[in-house]
Amino acid sequence: MSAPCRILVLGASSAMAQAYARLRAAGGASFLLVGLNATRLAAVSGDLRACGAHAAEIITADLADLAGVEGRAAEFRSRLGEPDEVLIAYGELGDQAESERDLDAARHAIDVNFTSVALWILALLKDRPPQAPLNLVVIGSVAGDRGRASNFIYGSAKGALDRFLEGLAQKVAGTPVHVVTVKPGFVDSPMTDAVAKGPLFASPEMVAADIVRAVDKRRRVVYTPWFWWVIMTIIRHLPWFVFKRLRI
Ligand SMILES: NC(=O)c1ccc[n+]([C@@H]2O[C@H](COP(=O)([O-])OP(=O)(O)OC[C@H]3O[C@@H](n4cnc5c(N)ncnc54)[C@H](OP(=O)(O)O)[C@@H]3O)[C@@H](O)[C@H]2O)c1
Repeated sequence: MSAPCRILVLGASSAMAQAYARLRAAGGASFLLVGLNATRLAAVSGDLRACGAHAAEIITADLADLAGVEGRAAEFRSRLGEPDEVLIAYGELGDQAESERDLDAARHAIDVNFTSVALWILALLKDRPPQAPLNLVVIGSVAGDRGRASNFIYGSAKGALDRFLEGLAQKVAGTPVHVVTVKPGFVDSPMTDAVAKGPLFASPEMVAADIVRAVDKRRRVVYTPWFWWVIMTIIRHLPWFVFKRLRI
């Protein structure tokens, strides 16, 4: 597949999004970069132009603001033109212990990682010309594959996102809309700055290359790096009497 022309990136200052966009920029794509911080977005825009992007405009938005979704989605579509590809990369790890104590923090974690993402997708698909091709690429997480004591609020939001995308993919099967769910394991990005790094950590560039392959081969789900498929298959199939004893 040739590189898509118009790419909308929600959460464009994410390390994984930036690494992926660089690979697409080399093919001359035009970008609309959406994120919280204008300074960071301007830096990403400059970088993508230097990598070959045809255009890289920026818009600042709090993507977890549920009230603004429908109007802003229309604004993004009219600014860029109907996108050929949408990458949804924003998210927050949050603090599990704080979210268990503070329900506002819990609601924010669920809104940013699930509710808002689902609403952006519905808004962007609404009234879309049925014959227009679209790659919808959404970054979930292996954390959504099984609820774990250490991060079940973030994990459940990513798990709900996984179910949402699965159902949507079934609905649009046979149409020009292709849904790719990306499930990274540990990635060395600002999100994991506070986490001690080990051998299972991948770079955003490794993840980006896996996403390009998955999109180009029209895969439905990609675990990245690939060995997370093996790890999560084992974790998902552990019987409860074993799983409940694990401190993970
Ligand atoms: N890193 C990992 O180990 C890992 C593993 C599995 C899945 N993931 C998922 O991968 C995706 C990308 O994360 P990353 O590792 O690339 O981390 P990252 O570089 O920290 O990116 C997260 C991005 O989300 C943006 N963001 C957060 N809340 C937002 C909001 N309300 N509105 C707009 N933007 C918002 C942040 O913007 P600011 O920088 O401006 O705050 C940041 O650019 C996330 O969905 C994450 O859940 C990460």
